[in-house]
Amino acid sequence: MIKEKMLNALNEQINAEQYSALLYLSMSAYFSSNGLPGFANWMYIQFQEEMTHANKFFNYVNERGGKVQLKAIAQMPAEFDGVIDVFEKTQAHEQHVTNLINKLVDIAIEERDHATQSFLKWFVDEQVEEEANVQEILDTLKLINGQGNGIFMLDREMRQRVFVDSTQAAE
Ligand code: FEO
Repeated sequence: MIKEKMLNALNEQINAEQYSALLYLSMSAYFSSNGLPGFANWMYIQFQEEMTHANKFFNYVNERGGKVQLKAIAQMPAEFDGVIDVFEKTQAHEQHVTNLINKLVDIAIEERDHATQSFLKWFVDEQVEEEANVQEILDTLKLINGQGNGIFMLDREMRQRVFVDSTQAAE
């Protein structure tokens, strides 16, 4: 049976992952309404990925015999100041999520919860990838100043991204 402190922290993380999902969905809507369907697609897939993260925590809590407690999700920002602003906010958000995952690992170590520690390893690795992907896009955006023909080309490239449920592939 999972200990209360760990359970509460995992329930908070379900909420954080659901927040992430809706944040990226809101960014997808922003791109759609600003004539960037490729960027909208990239963010929509990001939304789908975050839902799989939330679900992975949800299933884990159930599996360990804990009670899932779903919480209110905060209001999303709907307006942004261009593509660079969106990706800077995405990068900041992913760094925040990395900190949350690290704190969960700290609690798992403190509570001597080896099962949760092992479960969290997937997320530790995932965050390295998430931050690197966003950083790469941000670097390209800065190179082309977030505008002009470069944005058009990048938008076409972003359209190619397809959804893969990596939480399933890892199991
Ligand atoms: Fe679920 Fe993007 O971290």
